[in-house]
Amino acid sequence: MSTVQLFVPRDAAALAAGADEVAEALQAACAQRGVTLNLTRNGSRGLLWLEPLVEVVTPHGRIAYGPVQPEDVPALLDDAHLLTGGFMPEGDVSPSPRPSPTRGEGAMHSKPLSPCGRGVGERGQHTSDDMTVVAHPLRHGVTEQMPYLVMQERLTFRRIGVTDPLSLADYEAHDGWAGLRKALTLTSAELLHEVTHSGLRGRGGAAFPAGIKWKTVAHAHAAQKYVVCNADEGDSGTFADRMVMEGDPFMLIEGMAIAALAVGATQGFIYIRSEYPHALAVMNEAIERASAAGFLGENVLGSGRTFHLHTRKAAGAYVCGEETAMLESLEGKRGIVRAKPPLPALSGLFGQPTVINNVLTLAAVPFILARGAQAYRDYGVGRSHGTLPFQLAGNIKHGGLVEKAFGLSLRELIYGFGGGTRSGRPVKAVQVGGPLGAYVPESLWDVPLDYEAYAAHGAVLGHGGIVVHDDTANLAELARYAFEFCAAESCGKCTPCRIGSTRGVEVMQRIERTAPAGAAPNAAQHAQQLTLLRDLCDTMQHGSLCAMGGMTPYPVLSALNHYPQDFGVAAAPSPQPSPTRGEGAQTQRT
Ligand SMILES: Cc1cc2nc3c(=O)[nH]c(=O)nc-3n(C[C@H](O)[C@H](O)[C@H](O)COP(=O)(O)O)c2cc1C
Ligand code: SF4
Repeated sequence: MSTVQLFVPRDAAALAAGADEVAEALQAACAQRGVTLNLTRNGSRGLLWLEPLVEVVTPHGRIAYGPVQPEDVPALLDDAHLLTGGFMPEGDVSPSPRPSPTRGEGAMHSKPLSPCGRGVGERGQHTSDDMTVVAHPLRHGVTEQMPYLVMQERLTFRRIGVTDPLSLADYEAHDGWAGLRKALTLTSAELLHEVTHSGLRGRGGAAFPAGIKWKTVAHAHAAQKYVVCNADEGDSGTFADRMVMEGDPFMLIEGMAIAALAVGATQGFIYIRSEYPHALAVMNEAIERASAAGFLGENVLGSGRTFHLHTRKAAGAYVCGEETAMLESLEGKRGIVRAKPPLPALSGLFGQPTVINNVLTLAAVPFILARGAQAYRDYGVGRSHGTLPFQLAGNIKHGGLVEKAFGLSLRELIYGFGGGTRSGRPVKAVQVGGPLGAYVPESLWDVPLDYEAYAAHGAVLGHGGIVVHDDTANLAELARYAFEFCAAESCGKCTPCRIGSTRGVEVMQRIERTAPAGAAPNAAQHAQQLTLLRDLCDTMQHGSLCAMGGMTPYPVLSALNHYPQDFGVAAAPSPQPSPTRGEGAQTQRT
């Protein structure tokens, strides 16, 4: 048999599910059978419930098998003919393959609208070259034809899972560096125009226009300017930044190099979440390779322009994702929020003008330069242009990465892609936008996912993290948890957040005590505590220095307003909406 080309992801989610062991088992089994293997460790395609997802290259395309465990390997090779993708000459098919162990996803795949349904070939199906397809419960057909992927609009994630993350040749062969090469032919003003016209807004939470931020830095006068990538990714249910760094690190490097050209920066830092050792290692290796190949350093692609890039391991605190606390941390100090102004764009790292952007913001830039601003702007709705990589997590059947243009609905995401809850119970609440995001009830699941539409309903899209809860969730407990989280993660600089979060935990405990599940509440005390809760949220929202304290009321009040029964009241005590995303919070987070 000629060499077989296999892909086994090296992404942390796949590793956690046993990808290394599967790779070893495949290598050993192939060696035993005298098969020469060409094994690429790719990034994850983002179908996380199918990890480890093994792919084999065939004339029909890459064929996907998953979730594969080491003990599945012998049967997959011998009975399911994985090495040919299940394609066998007619009449040469062995008896029915042994069913895979109990993971039981097979039945799900047979549903016609399932996001992971089969591509080419059920058992007995003939292909144009007179081959028969050997079906197997773990075989999902041509990867690119799996509905979960077909239904997406992948711009930023178009290469992730497809290429070898650390191969410069592979990156180049898949459109890599086209944006940087284009950027080197443009002036700073032209570059700023492109990014502004694309409509790209910060993906880290506050949705501030990237072009305006870059312009501020470009127009500031200073001998030294910086580009800092915020890769602290602390929001619950989010993993897109990590997937970019582990699955397509050169794209982030390219985006940062373009930002540096636009604003005149010569030094860059990537502040990487401390819990992401694989991302840190991949980024370090990618920076070394890109520097050696002339894409970074003193003379970027022979242009005479300089850009040096470094990584820094983050301090391990949620608040260090707040941009000014991150700057303190990068400077070697404790991560405490700085008062604004001055904006980091004017006085940022070491007091110098600094572009600070999220991983996804910077990763969108190479596409914008390579394909043109309009190509990006054409995706989306209203003032929300382009795509957002949504991250489906929590109690969800098909958790994973879904990149779609703004404007689809939460219902499409949680049912069309996610397949409902993993527990099989009804969905009760969905927290969108991280631990400081609102709980979104079913009445709002058809609202288009765009920044303004969500703000109008007192919610935020944030970093695109979506955490699903079934009907066993108690929203009062989750509201208490929001205060506990804030109390644990507060930097302590301002009183509403530092003290307010602790008082919030106490108020929630009293509410839960005076209205225990199923018991009649002590009406007077209960009402008093609910009033106190709203007052406290008001103080935190309007008096906090940054969005950590300022947004903690989002989960709390959305829980109270939309799920009053969990707080021991038949209806919301006063028909106030959740707090709208005030200008304060917006500017504080940018
Ligand atoms: C408490 C807190 C935590 C934050 N964590 C992150 C984070 O992990 N990653 C991130 O990109 N932005 C985070 N932000 C937002 C940043 O302060 C900042 O707005 C963002 O990095 C700017 O990049 P962007 O314009 O590309 O969104 C956080 C903000 C707050 C208040
Ligand atoms: S709101 Fe909280 S995290 Fe932000 S500055 Fe105040 S104490 Fe620090």
